[in-house]
Amino acid sequence: MNFLISGRTIPWTKRGLSVWRYRELLPIDNDRFITTLAEGGTGLHHCQRLGRELGLKRLYVKNEGENPTGSFKDRGMTVALSKARELGKSKVVCASTGNTAASLAAYSARAGLQCIVIVPEGKVAAGKMLQVMIHGAKIFQISGDFDEAMRAVVELTERRKRFYLMNSLNPFRLEGQKTLAYEVCEQLDGHSPDVLVLPVGNGGNISAIWKGFGEFRTLGITKVKPRMIGIQAEKAAPIAKAVKQKQNWIRPVPNPRTIASAIRIGSPVNWTKVLRAINESRGTAETVSDKEILEAQRELASKEGIFVEPASAASIAGLRQSLEAGRIDRSDLVVCVTTGHGLKDPSIAEHLPHHESYTLKITQPDWIERLERIL
Ligand code: F0G
Repeated sequence: MNFLISGRTIPWTKRGLSVWRYRELLPIDNDRFITTLAEGGTGLHHCQRLGRELGLKRLYVKNEGENPTGSFKDRGMTVALSKARELGKSKVVCASTGNTAASLAAYSARAGLQCIVIVPEGKVAAGKMLQVMIHGAKIFQISGDFDEAMRAVVELTERRKRFYLMNSLNPFRLEGQKTLAYEVCEQLDGHSPDVLVLPVGNGGNISAIWKGFGEFRTLGITKVKPRMIGIQAEKAAPIAKAVKQKQNWIRPVPNPRTIASAIRIGSPVNWTKVLRAINESRGTAETVSDKEILEAQRELASKEGIFVEPASAASIAGLRQSLEAGRIDRSDLVVCVTTGHGLKDPSIAEHLPHHESYTLKITQPDWIERLERIL
């Protein structure tokens, strides 16, 4: 569609949907530093089957698993890595529950930068570890949780300036991640959704997306902004607890636990921005159990063909809960953000209910009849 700002055509309308479609709104001065793997431009899928079951006509899933390394992190990483090159950095470092590390490793490989990741030992999903290894990053495992890994990278980058911090404390990461909001509005023909539901860990994504909606509103492209609903796992929910208790500070959760390893975070570094996004948008936060997460993951996969990792399924589980609690109206246009691809975490296979499969002896002449009898 064709937008006008102050009577002038917006420069990006001829470009395809992607992070760099919005080049003019991203903080890179010189194009020659841009490092890209074609990120963004992910599908916004109208989920009619799941929506019918939930009593929602207008349910959409923005599936960030369609990004190059399989998660939303690529939106931020293409911008932050490009900025790192522009600033002349050669060593980039992050703490991670897996996806940030996988993304940073891929973009560093593409740009020829040295990548260092610090991760909690034994707590990162297998697919993500595989990504980090194949892209050739240096991996340091610590015998603590993500929050301790985060403290370590902050200390490292403060004490040794040649290591450049690539976690969501890096403002250029958030600039890339805000483009999800732009894309959703464009995919909805210039309209903002009524509600955006997404999982919250460190809180970078919800803050960045809220900024994006604000910018489209300021530019006059959209008229309103959505309510932001952040979802956390019940045993790793410092933000949801603060929101429910109407506090403007959080109490970190020691030893956070959840099957959704991507959001197993007790002390989110962006908590002030998250509370601001939720309060300004008149949104809210919910907690969901591991059981609800796994059910939602299966539901989205089996009813809509969208396979997401457990942290992402938290948004669907949280949607169900918000509807039941009357915090979302059945007439609302709701977008759930699914943040990462399901293939990243094969460990959930052991939680699947028994799945029947059959042995087929195709050497027997009547094997087709046998097959048909089972159906
Ligand atoms: N969903 C997935 C799949 C994630 O990997 C993360 C964060 C989140 C949601 C939460 O996003 O932190 O911006 O609130 N993963 C980080 C990592 C912590 O290291 O990959 P957030």
